[in-house]
Amino acid sequence: MDHFLYRDGALYAEDVPLSEIAVQVGTPFYVYSTATLQRHFRLFDEALSWAPDHLICYAMKAASNQAILKTLAAEGAGMDVVSGGEYARAKAAGVPGEKIVFSGVGKTREEIRTVLEGGIRQFNVESEPEMRAISEVASAMGVVAPITIRVNPDVDAKTHAKIATGKSENKFGIPIAWAREVYAEAAKLPGLKVIGIDVHIGSQLTDLEPYELAYRKVAELTETLRADGHEIRRLDLGGGLGIPYTRSNEAPPLPSDYGALIERTVGHLGCEIEIEPGRFIAGNAGLLVSGIIYVKQGDGRSFMILDAAMNDLIRPAMYDAHHEIVPLIEADAGVDLLPYDIVGPVCESGDTFAKGRLMPPMKAGDLLAFRSAGAYGAVMSSEYNTRPLIPEVLVNGDQFAVIRKRPTFDEIINRDTLPEWL
Ligand code: LLP
Repeated sequence: MDHFLYRDGALYAEDVPLSEIAVQVGTPFYVYSTATLQRHFRLFDEALSWAPDHLICYAMKAASNQAILKTLAAEGAGMDVVSGGEYARAKAAGVPGEKIVFSGVGKTREEIRTVLEGGIRQFNVESEPEMRAISEVASAMGVVAPITIRVNPDVDAKTHAKIATGKSENKFGIPIAWAREVYAEAAKLPGLKVIGIDVHIGSQLTDLEPYELAYRKVAELTETLRADGHEIRRLDLGGGLGIPYTRSNEAPPLPSDYGALIERTVGHLGCEIEIEPGRFIAGNAGLLVSGIIYVKQGDGRSFMILDAAMNDLIRPAMYDAHHEIVPLIEADAGVDLLPYDIVGPVCESGDTFAKGRLMPPMKAGDLLAFRSAGAYGAVMSSEYNTRPLIPEVLVNGDQFAVIRKRPTFDEIINRDTLPEWL
């Protein structure tokens, strides 16, 4: 459930009509709902309430605006970061190091040093070379780095190939079959303190079975590693819970189902439980609002040309992702729907959001909203075609605020610097 609903035929974000934001901010823009972010976070928190020691580390790669991070941090969220930049963002939002976990396959020595200086809950180690690098950097600093090792359980997450991470052919983690040897080496490295196991098998999982398989393997590994003498007291079980992208027949599992599955598979081990959800928290908490520039008749088709483009929301072009697109003014019941190709102005045919999408008749100047755009929307945008990054807006009840402003062309151009011979 989200807080983007029609009232008297107009689409609202909580208590604010989106058309009002459009007038003040101009289109296109992203808009997020505070109540939805909070609700989604709390669903996970309740789902893990059986585990007294649990931390939900929001995977901030999904949407990392300071205002979003602060909203979630106020709920008690920790953060899952994958770069020095994300770490800096988390710290700037006031999240303490002991609530930040550092994931990602390519942590540089500089990043490792920075987070050891600033404080870190744990590194989720992805490879043996990285493990040795962390130990070296920590030893040189005279500190000990808390680590889990990410195991790759070789399960099929049954999701889009570009976002599956738990198969042996993926670059993530160490093969679970090697875990005993790798943990044995980690235990000997002077700069490391092994505290647990990490696993993440993919994103947009709409079936719990792959989790069940992976978590059973993790439970078995916990017992094995404990028998080998390692202190396994924390399990980071990753993120990935999917969301409905259509309003029709999709019913992905709920956090409560997921929490019960975690309890069933690893609850008996008495470990601290961490999860790293991103999409479930932010995805349906955000919309992309866009205006129609032209409706153009082509050969046998109608193109709706929007002021938003693939540089603002890359998911349809990159993953063939489906986003519901709805008018800001609700169509009258019973109106005949027409098929439109909904496209942006960028000079590529790939700049297509939807083909033959059935919509009420629409004209230039009308406004539309892309649903489920809160996760992997703004964060994946670019300035391709020198299209400025679009504003982000946060709604809270009847208030709203711009949380990232639209840059001017001068601001964009002035980031370039000229060599002296020009
Ligand atoms: N933890 C790790 C280690 C991850 O790699 C990811 C996502 C997450 C947590 C959060 O997963 P989530 O709960 O959001 O599914 N850009 C793609 C999604 C990429 C996901 C990458 N990793 C998209 O637009 O669908």
